[in-house]
Amino acid sequence: MVALHSSIRISDTPHSFQASPAAGLRLTGVEKSFGANRVLRGIDLEIEPGSFVAIIGKSGCGKSTLLRILMGLEEQTGGHIDFVDQSGRAIEPNARIVFQEPRLLPWRTVLENVVVGLGANSGSEGSDLQALQALKAVQLSEKAGDWPSRLSGGQRQRVALARALVSHPGFLTLDEPLGALDALTRISMQQLLGRVWREQGFTAVLVTHDVAEAVYLADRVIVLEEGRIKKDVRVPHPHPRGHGSRDLAEIESELLAAILGRN
Ligand SMILES: Nc1ncnc2c1ncn2[C@@H]1O[C@H](COP(=O)(O)OP(=O)(O)OP(=O)(O)O)[C@@H](O)[C@H]1O
Ligand SMILES: [Mg+2]
Repeated sequence: MVALHSSIRISDTPHSFQASPAAGLRLTGVEKSFGANRVLRGIDLEIEPGSFVAIIGKSGCGKSTLLRILMGLEEQTGGHIDFVDQSGRAIEPNARIVFQEPRLLPWRTVLENVVVGLGANSGSEGSDLQALQALKAVQLSEKAGDWPSRLSGGQRQRVALARALVSHPGFLTLDEPLGALDALTRISMQQLLGRVWREQGFTAVLVTHDVAEAVYLADRVIVLEEGRIKKDVRVPHPHPRGHGSRDLAEIESELLAAILGRN
């Protein structure tokens, strides 16, 4: 859940109530090979601080590998990665990741699981209050004292999101965070994620298999194919958006055609 990049650290200030500034990203010629398998073959990408970017593409095209490299969980075999501030200067972001499975500690309460997201600050004064605020943001305050085993799948994933949010990250990556949820829970989680992003202002990079989810949430959708960016599509509609709107449906079919190789 918590990743440490050479350029990523958990803030060690005693009170991290303050939000970290949104971090932008600049990738230049990023490559990754596993032996002879060239998974990423030269990714050039700039992401604006505070924007919401979705990454889609067929299974095995390198989406998770790219996220893992951004989080420092994997090292690229070529190219450069820079996190930048509003004026383009290189910064060390407060970056967090949410995975498809919530990865909660079963022997800790919901609140304690969220406190874990504070890392080195987890024992500090005010950490419970911060965790409660994060639980409130995901509408789960009333479950603070419960065990994870007593929660539904959607609620567990909201705890995982709260754990990622508790340190007020400037950069949040999400690797199919809603992939295991039923369709209705998924829609309400998409609304929640969109709201939290608008309220907190971090930069979001979401990997998803769901093209409708990508166009509902993102300002920009990147299609990966065989380790390269095949398409980079803007979604120029204001947030919050309605599910199933006609304008979004057009962008969705353009993206589906790109994934399926029809353009
Ligand atoms: N640690 C690893 N060692 C060797 N090969 C790996 C490793 N991690 C990923 N790969 C390979 O890299 C390629 C891309 O994997 P990745 O997990 O990034 O795909 P993905 O786009 O996230 O797929 P999915 O949509 O199924 O999650 C695959 O061919 C995979 O076998
Ligand atoms: Mg993956």
